Amino acid sequence: MPTKIEKDVITGTDTTGHEWDGIRELNTPLPKWWVYVYLATVVWGLGMFVLYPSIPLGTTYFHGLLGYSSRADAMAGVEEMRAMHGKQMQQIGALPFAEIQKNHDLLEVALTAGRITFAENCQPCHGPNGEGRIGYPALDTDVWRWGGTLAAIQQTITHGIRSGDPETRTSQMPSFGADGVLKPDQIQQVADYVMTLYGKAKPGVDTAAGQKIFAENCAACHGDKGQGNRDVGAPPLASRVHLYGDARETVVAQVTKPRHGVMPNWNQRLTPATIKAVALYVHSLGGGE
Ligand code: HEC
Ligand code: HEC
Repeated sequence: MPTKIEKDVITGTDTTGHEWDGIRELNTPLPKWWVYVYLATVVWGLGMFVLYPSIPLGTTYFHGLLGYSSRADAMAGVEEMRAMHGKQMQQIGALPFAEIQKNHDLLEVALTAGRITFAENCQPCHGPNGEGRIGYPALDTDVWRWGGTLAAIQQTITHGIRSGDPETRTSQMPSFGADGVLKPDQIQQVADYVMTLYGKAKPGVDTAAGQKIFAENCAACHGDKGQGNRDVGAPPLASRVHLYGDARETVVAQVTKPRHGVMPNWNQRLTPATIKAVALYVHSLGGGE
């Protein structure tokens, strides 16, 4: 059938000339607003294409007239965060502990930095949560050898224990057995007495002789009741928390030929601010004084 374009009488619109069973299709023009919006999006698209990075060119790409880079944008964000973090760490380094503890946001930053520092540097010896293990003291109890105040913890971390740092904490338990100060049976006796201090003594054992040996040889460092002495890092013996263990043979071994733990000094590896942050973290583990 030949197509015939004519005006529709009712709407006044041209027909397309298509006709099916007497039904004719109108050629209704697109609404003007739609056409303008469409053209505007085309112009917008071309504009973006020219202004921003668009066409890949082998190993490089067309950078766009504005030279914008989302990577640079992200890096600027990272730099901004770094600068903020740096400023907060600077404040942590400058302020006394009491001021940091009063500033909620700053304390949060310090504890986070401390936790990360602990995981990276301290965990291999003191355990993931500071729970300690044989020879490496627990840091989450209220039993301290050198001290559990923030200042004491800071001092320990900064200069270490028997570390070789000029200001290291240091002390030495005498080698009672190896140097012949005490005879083997005296060492057995004092070990029996020491076990009464933490409630693990065998019942019925006479500890009078051991108690006397303790008063004469051990009390100067460990205290007359075994309460310990922080001036010389002598652990409390009247405690269920032990550095080397609570077994009789462990006590005998320590008195015969003592072990001495070494804690590295961190002043060469961590900044003073980071040391303060990790001290705050250790203090928060449960035993802080
Ligand atoms: C190489 C193992 C090792 C590493 C790593 C280490 N420590 Fe220690 N730390 C020790 C030993 C061993 C002692 C106990 C020394 C002693 O016998 O008096 C100790 C003691 C301490 C004490 C004293 C506890 C008390 O009872 O007074 C504190 C606090 C401490 N460490 C914190 C830290 C922190 C924080 C870090 C990480 C920055 C760290 N340590 C890393 C081995 C280590
Ligand atoms: C000059 C001080 C000094 C004297 C005296 C001394 N000790 Fe010690 N003792 C220490 C120190 C310091 C340590 C911790 C060693 C270390 O940090 O590795 C220690 C550790 C110990 C431990 C291990 C504690 C634990 O938590 O596992 C026992 C047990 C002990 N001493 C018993 C004795 C007995 C018993 C005597 C007396 C016969 C004695 N000490 C005399 C300083 C002393």
